[in-house]
Amino acid sequence: MAKDLDDVLARAVEVVGPPNVVTDAEVVAPYTTDWTGRFHGTTPAVVRPGTTGEVAAVLALCNAARVPVVPQGGNTGLVGGGVPRAHELVLSLQRLRHLDAVDARAGQVTAQAGVTIGAVQSLARAAGWDYGVDLAARDSATVGGTIATNAGGVRVLRYGPTRRQVVGYEAVLADGRVLRRLDGLEKDNTGYDLGGLLCGSEGTLAIVTAARLRLVARPSHTVVALLAFDRVDDALDAVGESRRCVDTLQAIEFFVRGGLDLVCETFSIPKPFAADHDAYVLLEAAAATDPTPALAACADRLADLADVAVATEPERREALWRYREAHTEAINTLGPPHKLDVTLPPATMSTFLARVPDVVAGVAPRARTFLFGHAGDGNVHVNVTGVDPDDDRVTDAVLRFVVELHGSISAEHGIGTAKRPWVHLTRTREELDVFRAIKRALDPRGILNPNVLLPADR
Ligand code: FAD
Ligand code: MLT
Ligand code: ZN
Repeated sequence: MAKDLDDVLARAVEVVGPPNVVTDAEVVAPYTTDWTGRFHGTTPAVVRPGTTGEVAAVLALCNAARVPVVPQGGNTGLVGGGVPRAHELVLSLQRLRHLDAVDARAGQVTAQAGVTIGAVQSLARAAGWDYGVDLAARDSATVGGTIATNAGGVRVLRYGPTRRQVVGYEAVLADGRVLRRLDGLEKDNTGYDLGGLLCGSEGTLAIVTAARLRLVARPSHTVVALLAFDRVDDALDAVGESRRCVDTLQAIEFFVRGGLDLVCETFSIPKPFAADHDAYVLLEAAAATDPTPALAACADRLADLADVAVATEPERREALWRYREAHTEAINTLGPPHKLDVTLPPATMSTFLARVPDVVAGVAPRARTFLFGHAGDGNVHVNVTGVDPDDDRVTDAVLRFVVELHGSISAEHGIGTAKRPWVHLTRTREELDVFRAIKRALDPRGILNPNVLLPADR
């Protein structure tokens, strides 16, 4: 194997050029630790192809020699899926950076896998459009990575997850064959939806090298309102009520007192209101006409609203968003967190939020639990700090609790290595058999991200 690996690396150098087969420990280090700092690994090399043809040639070499490969985009994934765990080769797609001009007739754009979401947004906005996916990692997360994880973010409520934006794709199979369907046909009922299958496949089925993305109209008026409540249940009522009476909402987010305190302390920013409150709901509405009156009327109807701040100007809107978006970075300052990303049905959300801190305390009495997320999607991020990175008891207890309440163990981050031992809690044996059959059909030698998503073979 070592000789085969040496051969693969030597021939990879011929394909991508010497500077793009990186083995220097210092340069390699950021590719082998995930964003949270919780997942680490080692790799024989980071290979950085610059074209689809180079990706294909490198994969063909790896497949022939059975060298396992972990694809990596912006390395902002939160489930340990983009870093090597068992000395796999890292295939970085960051050099695939070409972004076509916006196709204004189609309202679509073609982007290579390494283009960041921020770059797609900027290009789309300059042309009077927007991209439906938005997330705090926008300036690092890539088109390929967001397709591989089917990333959600803050606008799923209005535009759906990444899967809904993908009109076409280009991908390379494990053996180097290229699949390409980038014509942008909105309707094409000619068999299996292979592009859709790649969404959420976490690098296990093929390497995404480019995508044709659907753009959305760019509303000219955007308003953000931060609502404060003294009871979490009142905040949950406001989520339903705002959906009912504001038809231009594009985000409904929430967080609670502990997370807000941490964000304000960590970044030395003033609290949003004079008094502290238990729960906060952030609403963003956007439309061709000003949505402020509709938002104000909605706030007036919320009998238990304790306080509210409204922003229409970009700078002030960003300041309100910061209380929510800065949770991830603030929590990371406390050490590598255990990040659980779950969905609950509306019927059990209240029970979950009330009881999950005790579920955590039951197995980790000294841990701190932070709750925030995308309330409009029933998506709660349960972040737990003060627990050893290898201690799985918190994950086990929380995910079993989620399943007891009829939820899903992953809403938007995926399974990666972090949740792999618990996939069977939400996927049936029959579904997992089909997953494995698909994997075998596309990657018979099992070289693509072999340590994520699918449970280890029985
Ligand atoms: P990576 O982290 O590099 O890889 C992620 C997975 O995709 C890995 O399994 C990797 O092997 C695979 N992969 C990467 N590129 C390819 C490719 N070209 N072909 C095939 N497989 C590939 N996620 C959300 O869903 N919603 C959020 O709101 C959100 N907010 C975030 C905020 C912050 C501050 C951070 C740090 C992360 C956030 N994330 C969020 C998680 C992360 O940004 C997403 O999972 C994103 O899709 C990862 O993209 P990436 O390019 O960084 O992929
Ligand atoms: C978020 O919604 O902020 C992201 O999914 C990141 C996180 O969960 O920390
Ligand atoms: Zn999220």
